[in-house]
Amino acid sequence: MGTGVEVKVEGLSKSFGRANIWSDLTFTMPAGEINVLLGPSGTGKSVFLKCLIGLLKPEHGSIVIHDTDLVRTNADRLYEIRKLFGVLFQDGALFGSMNLFDNIAFPLREHTKKGEPEIRDIVMEKMDMVGLTGDEMKLPGEISGGMRKRAGLARALVLDPEIVLFDEPDSGLDPVRTAYLNQLIVDLNQKTDSTFLIVTHDINTAQTLPDNIGIMYHKHLAMFGPRELLLTSEDPVVAQFLNGRKEGPIGMSEEKDADEQAAEQAGNKPAFEVPPMKPQIMPTDGGKRAAQGRRLDRVMGMMHELPPKAQQAITDSLSADERHRYGVGVGSHRRH
Ligand SMILES: Nc1ncnc2c1ncn2[C@@H]1O[C@H](COP(=O)(O)OP(=O)(O)OP(=O)(O)O)[C@@H](O)[C@H]1O
Ligand SMILES: [Mg+2]
Repeated sequence: MGTGVEVKVEGLSKSFGRANIWSDLTFTMPAGEINVLLGPSGTGKSVFLKCLIGLLKPEHGSIVIHDTDLVRTNADRLYEIRKLFGVLFQDGALFGSMNLFDNIAFPLREHTKKGEPEIRDIVMEKMDMVGLTGDEMKLPGEISGGMRKRAGLARALVLDPEIVLFDEPDSGLDPVRTAYLNQLIVDLNQKTDSTFLIVTHDINTAQTLPDNIGIMYHKHLAMFGPRELLLTSEDPVVAQFLNGRKEGPIGMSEEKDADEQAAEQAGNKPAFEVPPMKPQIMPTDGGKRAAQGRRLDRVMGMMHELPPKAQQAITDSLSADERHRYGVGVGSHRRH
């Protein structure tokens, strides 16, 4: 399996004709970490994923992977870079007339010169990874939505991608299946150390799965950063979105008008308390993901830039060993 790679997005803008979808997206997905992208419907999250894989071309800005700017590179290089991506489309996008084995083998037959015995080994390994062993001969129409998602995931992973994109992997799944899928994503990230970007509308997923969270709002990236920053944020848009509240600047048609907001404020609602953070999902085997260690170094290095609540959340998450290693809280527990 490959190792994750950093994805650096700078000043990215996309329009269709005269309709601007978003402008000036600037953020970096660190190598191997799990990132979640949230935002109201229609804000251009799927358009962003399509820009990442080169299906759509932004007018301004850059997307840099392995020193190549995907926005400006030539078609040959783009074709090579695209092989680094695994994509799970919203509906799994399986071929209805092919059984699961052939669906999952498809990218290998299409993009590699591997022989059938090797293809068989790889397909069976990926099917085992997502818990579909024994279902090779079934057609997509004969299995449940959750199984289709997992089959789509196996197909997304078959070329050992360095970057995996998921467009709403949890839509249409019941809460228990979503919990299993999220656990599977964490375990896969541990095995592959690939960089993950997951678009979701599920608040529980956003609260428990990612290392970093981004929120698209009002044609911009409202915020992107470590989970502790967003999950403790009192920024009205961020707090409303991450807590699924009706009160706040986001309305049914994306943005409430001034009258609606004024009416809400006139109601003198008590200030909203951001609830305590839920713990992040850990790998099943009790170990850590490689990205977690790298992330901790990174986040500890940016501590001084973070608001006090985010700092506190990070400090609270440290084990005794980690406290010792980073020299946190040493002395405060000392008794004479
Ligand atoms: N090929 C296209 N040509 C013109 N407009 C497009 C195209 N693709 C998307 N759009 C427009 O871009 C906007 C953003 O669409 P997108 O599908 O990215 O939203 P989204 O954030 O993924 O929403 P959802 O959460 O509902 O999936 C929409 O207004 C859509 O109509
Ligand atoms: Mg979408």
